[in-house]
Amino acid sequence: MHDIIEELEKRRERARQGGGKERIARQHAKGKLSARERIELLLDPGTFEEWDMFVEHRCVDFGMDKQSIPGDGVVTGYGTINGRLIFVFSQDFTVFGGSLSESHAQKIAKIMDQAMEVGAPVIGLNDSGGARIQEGVASLAGYAEVFQRNVEASGVIPQISVIMGPCAGGAVYSPAITDFIFMVEDTSYMFVTGPDVVKTVTHEEVTLEELGGASAHTTKSGVAHNAFANDAEALLYLRRFIDFLPANNKEKPPLRPTPDRAERVELSLDTLVPDNPNKPYDMKELIEKVLDEGDFFELQPDYAANIIIGFGRMEGSTVGIVANQPMVLAGCLDIDSAIKAARFVRFCDAFNIPIVTFVDVPGFLPGSAQELGGIIKHGAKLLYAFAEATVPKVTVITRKAYGGAYDVMSSKHLRGDVSFAWPSAEIAVMGPKGAVEIIFRGDLDSDEKVTARTDEYRERFANPFIAAQRGFIDDVIMPHNTRVRVCRSLRMLKNKKLKNPWKKHGNIPL
Ligand code: HXC
Repeated sequence: MHDIIEELEKRRERARQGGGKERIARQHAKGKLSARERIELLLDPGTFEEWDMFVEHRCVDFGMDKQSIPGDGVVTGYGTINGRLIFVFSQDFTVFGGSLSESHAQKIAKIMDQAMEVGAPVIGLNDSGGARIQEGVASLAGYAEVFQRNVEASGVIPQISVIMGPCAGGAVYSPAITDFIFMVEDTSYMFVTGPDVVKTVTHEEVTLEELGGASAHTTKSGVAHNAFANDAEALLYLRRFIDFLPANNKEKPPLRPTPDRAERVELSLDTLVPDNPNKPYDMKELIEKVLDEGDFFELQPDYAANIIIGFGRMEGSTVGIVANQPMVLAGCLDIDSAIKAARFVRFCDAFNIPIVTFVDVPGFLPGSAQELGGIIKHGAKLLYAFAEATVPKVTVITRKAYGGAYDVMSSKHLRGDVSFAWPSAEIAVMGPKGAVEIIFRGDLDSDEKVTARTDEYRERFANPFIAAQRGFIDDVIMPHNTRVRVCRSLRMLKNKKLKNPWKKHGNIPL
């Protein structure tokens, strides 16, 4: 017995060392934590239950039978974050570059299966050179096993990926299917083919950072949601982030009691919208003043910034925020913003998170780049997402709600439950200038006439009352009362039950 215990301790110690002290030191020298240090920071202290510490690969080719490290390049198990159950895998770059073998994949699949059975989120800490090259097709099969589970878990349990090192080849596709991707600046990369392959095939010279760094994916491609300065910051933000989410699609998000009263009045909001309708203002000010304690976790802040998405709480319950941002492209909807918001709306809908939408949108962004880029198809994604969503939907129109974009932005007609407008709202088929140029085309021979017609149109249509007369908005509210009116609406909608017709699945325009 004594011998076995000694042997167990020896084996555990061997597994804990991963690829050895030297490789761990190299990992540290790059500013990266080890796989185990990351788990320690992520989970509540002392809660990690590790599984499969002794699993080894079965490859015998290329001398692999002589090199085996217990755990095989990934640490897996479960623990808690702020007391809530979370499954986690953390790839160990010190073991064969964190590359994915058949056994490595089986370890990930095992915790995903368990997470699905008990209904808890999975967090993947990715740091991997992709398919274990020595294993060939066995490794590819392993990837596909993980992909299949990612797809089945989509919409059932939240799945979050943190990219904390290189993620090449197959290593990027599992994160791509998950709900949120966070990256670490300067040390993490995501690409299907790296700079060397790119150079060989296309003769294009591009750096790692330009091709797949955190900045590339959070500002240009939109593949990743948020970037953080280092491992510790990413993991601490992740702990904060997961608190907004429910454990699975049958549960409501956790309630966090707040001293912030629903009745809090924000007088400063009465002057947020400038008198000049062409002047921008910062929609984030409204969001922060309306949410509990001003706590807003914005997602994709540096990508398609003409739309804002993120989580906050109202009376302690999580809400998803979607808002046009007049400071960027005047708040127009374009391809990137429509896709960004559509995926977020679908996440909220899948996980019982009510959606609060703030609208100030002059329309879809015009131009051949948008048309030929497929704005029809991509704009329809957002329309589709809002229309199919059955969670509580509360909409506040602060200023412009023009044309098709009015319809799209969680309007009453797309089963929006409560629609409010501020007195500054302009709800019409298009802006006064454009409308006058069309309606009075043959009768605009002087500047005075243009001004008079435009004023006339603005007076008649650029206000919230025509929509209010039809019941398309439920009330015109004072900006300072926005928080209390939205809180009351969400309270009223708490037990909302709405079902879409039975179908295998819809066919969202992809
Ligand atoms: C086996 C690997 C490996 C891999 C790295 N290593 N990638 N071992 N399979 N895919 C090993 C290295 O041999 C080395 O071992 C250790 O990990 C660290 O690697 P380095 O190259 O020294 O590190 P670094 O300079 O930081 O470069 C990291 C890297 C590079 C950019 C990830 O290693 C790399 O380009 N690897 C290959 C990436 C790749 O092509 N993967 C296959 C993609 S195809 P030692 O013993 O020296 O420490 C794929 C298909 C799946 O994934 C498709 C499914 C849809």
